[in-house]
Amino acid sequence: MSATSTLVTDEHFRYIAKRTRGDDAFLKDLKAAAAAAGMPAIWISPEQASLMQILLKAARAKEVIEVGTLAGYSAIAMARALPPDGRVRTIEINDAFADFAEAWISKSDVAGRATVHRGPGLQVLPNFETDSADAAFLDADKTNYPGYLKESLRIVRKGGLIMVDNAFAFGQLLDERPTDREVPAVREFNEIMAKERRVHAIIAPIGDGLWVGVKE
Ligand code: DHB
Ligand code: MG
Repeated sequence: MSATSTLVTDEHFRYIAKRTRGDDAFLKDLKAAAAAAGMPAIWISPEQASLMQILLKAARAKEVIEVGTLAGYSAIAMARALPPDGRVRTIEINDAFADFAEAWISKSDVAGRATVHRGPGLQVLPNFETDSADAAFLDADKTNYPGYLKESLRIVRKGGLIMVDNAFAFGQLLDERPTDREVPAVREFNEIMAKERRVHAIIAPIGDGLWVGVKE
């Protein structure tokens, strides 16, 4: 490893996290309630939320689409980076998760700025208008990522942001014998992103690896 690239360790992650905005009391309560409700604790990290908020602010994004609402943590975080008339359209396949997210969005400071669309991503995304979003965040089942990307490239305007979670495949990207069954899908998707000429993208080593791209 040369001085131009530093190996990012857990210590670096903690160093970074300590020096950016973390969760406020509301988001901490949301996570505790989601965990108590038995939801999987697979939401994005606070420092990843900060990076995404910074990108959305820099892009002056107003309209965001998301696949994979889970508890609504990332939808609320992204909505907070938008102007008052901005909107996150977030898609959730699991009704119980959608109920939870709707309840927490409605009592959040961004109530009305995030709407939950129920159903499978590949069924809901085709209902969204072409060029109707400034950014997309994909964070759902990994086998359908190629389909989500294809639809996002239609829905996000030229110059808009494409963000995709879990490029590091739950930490197992480079493992010889990964245990998670979605690792091959992440690897295949990473190759698709690397070759996709319509997006200039890079994996930011934040959280579990965040693809950050601009639609060209
Ligand atoms: C899993 C999914 C995610 O989107 C994530 O960020 C972490 C873990 C999972 O399916 O295990
Ligand atoms: Mg994820």
